[in-house]
Amino acid sequence: MPRTDSSASASTRTSAASSRTSAPAPPVSARVTRGNPATGSRAAGNPRTGNPADAPAAAAPVVAAPADGGPSLAELLDFAHRTAADPAVLARLPLRPEERTWIALEGPGGSEAWVIGWPPGSGTGWHDHGGSRGAFATAAGRLTEQSLAAELPTEGWRTLELMEGVDRERDLPAGRGRAFGPHHVHQVVNTSPEGHAVSVHVYHPPLPLLRRYSRDGQVLRLEAVEEPGEWTR
Ligand SMILES: [Fe+2]
Repeated sequence: MPRTDSSASASTRTSAASSRTSAPAPPVSARVTRGNPATGSRAAGNPRTGNPADAPAAAAPVVAAPADGGPSLAELLDFAHRTAADPAVLARLPLRPEERTWIALEGPGGSEAWVIGWPPGSGTGWHDHGGSRGAFATAAGRLTEQSLAAELPTEGWRTLELMEGVDRERDLPAGRGRAFGPHHVHQVVNTSPEGHAVSVHVYHPPLPLLRRYSRDGQVLRLEAVEEPGEWTR
């Protein structure tokens, strides 16, 4: 997801999680600490865990026939890998030393796809994908993905206190990729001090919006909801 720059830190984990997270039920991985001020709701304070999207890419859930009729996670990931291995496509991407660059592609089954160039130290910041599922694969260089192994509710909260142990970090050198489901929250960073990275990303449905979060220890805070016109050129 190409469109917003941030010098995201590659390391946000702390041991600051409170003892209040000692919920007896392991499935509770995150909880709403403050309800939606608009609704007063504390709904979805007990989201499910075991997000299959955080399984290793090879074990990503394969949904043969998604309810929306679009491509499955396996098909999205396959597209990302095939495109990442296509030198003719990659050659179209301009690379700039100070900023990310991208080109749009037509993905499979009406999906949205991008080739992205990542200068050293660039990253996305924490975000979700507005309920879209997706996949990405590294074509050159190396990316690091930090994600949450929790299926967070997409709406109805502004601040979540994450339980210890929900953080995941994935090293994605060239040739590696991963798929993710509609609740996936992550940030992607090129931690290399000197080398560009290039990757291919694909989403279905095309991103309807994108939620941006800040992270302070175990507290995840909704900072902005961006619509397509706000992050494209
Ligand atoms: Fe993303």
